[in-house]
Amino acid sequence: MSINKVYIETYGCQMNLADTEVVKSILNNKGYEFTENINKANVVLLNTCSVRDNAEQRIYGRLGNIKNVKSKNDNVVIGILGCMAERLRKDLIEDKRVVDLVVGPDEYRRLPEFIDSAFAGEKGIGVKLSKTETYDDIIPYREEGLSAWISVMRGCDKFCTFCVVPFTRGRERSRNLDSIVREIEQLSERGFKEVTLLGQNVNSYNDNGNDFADLLAATAEVDKTMRIRFTTSHPQDLSDKLLYTIAEYSNLCNYIHLPVQSGSNRILELMNRTYTIEHYLNLIDKARKIIPGVSFSTDIISGFPTETEEEHKMTLDVMKKVRYDGAYMFKYSPREGTKAYRMKDDVPEEVKAIRLSEIIDLQQKISYEINRELIGSTEEVLVEGFSRKSDDFLAGRTGTNKVVIFPIVEGVSAGDYVDVKINRATSATLFGDFIQRSNIKTTTDKLQRTA
Ligand code: 5AD
Ligand code: SF4
Repeated sequence: MSINKVYIETYGCQMNLADTEVVKSILNNKGYEFTENINKANVVLLNTCSVRDNAEQRIYGRLGNIKNVKSKNDNVVIGILGCMAERLRKDLIEDKRVVDLVVGPDEYRRLPEFIDSAFAGEKGIGVKLSKTETYDDIIPYREEGLSAWISVMRGCDKFCTFCVVPFTRGRERSRNLDSIVREIEQLSERGFKEVTLLGQNVNSYNDNGNDFADLLAATAEVDKTMRIRFTTSHPQDLSDKLLYTIAEYSNLCNYIHLPVQSGSNRILELMNRTYTIEHYLNLIDKARKIIPGVSFSTDIISGFPTETEEEHKMTLDVMKKVRYDGAYMFKYSPREGTKAYRMKDDVPEEVKAIRLSEIIDLQQKISYEINRELIGSTEEVLVEGFSRKSDDFLAGRTGTNKVVIFPIVEGVSAGDYVDVKINRATSATLFGDFIQRSNIKTTTDKLQRTA
């Protein structure tokens, strides 16, 4: 039998990118090969996202194109993975005849079986959610690189009323701490310089009494020259212990993604976010005291059911108070099966759009102001490679996740840490000049700095 060639497209969040690497590992172990060229593949997989309707519409559009691949070559298997598989199940196969297999996030181990059946002409659906599956024993398939994602927990028990994730990804479960540390050791040996620990709600990580702060400390110890990032934090579960741990280790990045969603307590309650704005703002203040220089990003939803103009202004107000470094901003999108779906989606589309553009404009202004204040300062940058626009410039990131561009320097390349003096800024990018190779700070240095 000829070797199967697999082509995978990944949509949505970083968790899906990490899952695609798990899927590739499972398939690779069964002898499958991968191709970047869809026309050379006989297995085409889309790892999908259901979080908002426009994500699903985009994927439906893509399926329309992929139909042509199948009409050219009958012997191609097409599969839907991820959240849409879980949400739509057999409807996908019934509505989209082009789809041969539908496999949800907890059934990837059975993918080879489903693909074999599909080649034998039998369509397959695997959408059972698990209370225990963490893919702990599977080393994700990764190309060489600097930066890796590691999923440390799966699922979500928060049930925010707008969100489909608890239904598509099931209950929270944490990976074993030792297996995560081992994975980071291997990445460090391969020359990776940065890992991002992923979970829908990393702050409720729990492995036999080890909490997320314990996990962060253990991962930071592996290699002090490796940056550790994490996402996403829920404001209800972010502990003081976690803040002190971030302050303690120089390689734990001073950057917290802390979705606020709305500035109104009434809306937060309707969203079942389980905190008030007062709690949220206190948390930000506390974090800033414990971790000097910490920066924040957030998620914001405009036009949740019944949101008034005044409540929208409260969201703008929180943005002005916190001054986020960055934000992911969305129009509310009703998702079938969620609690909010039963509320009336009564904010007109045009109003949602106007509110969203006010939110985006304000964030751009704040990001620009924050970046401009950095002119004259020196930032430690992990070089990622040439800048996208020109090979005369290098690009990298600060610990607070800002992109920095500077002219090339002989002997400096991807993976190096350098100090760059900032001389220009836009809302999205900092520009500067190389000063020196940086001395990667040690834990004790940082303790002294923050004392
Ligand atoms: N509509 C709009 N935005 C949503 N998000 C989640 N569900 C929805 C929805 N139904 C946003 C939230 C979340 C981010 C990942 O996506 O802001 O934090
Ligand atoms: Fe969705 Fe809320 Fe869970 Fe995030 S915390 S995945 S928004 S339910």
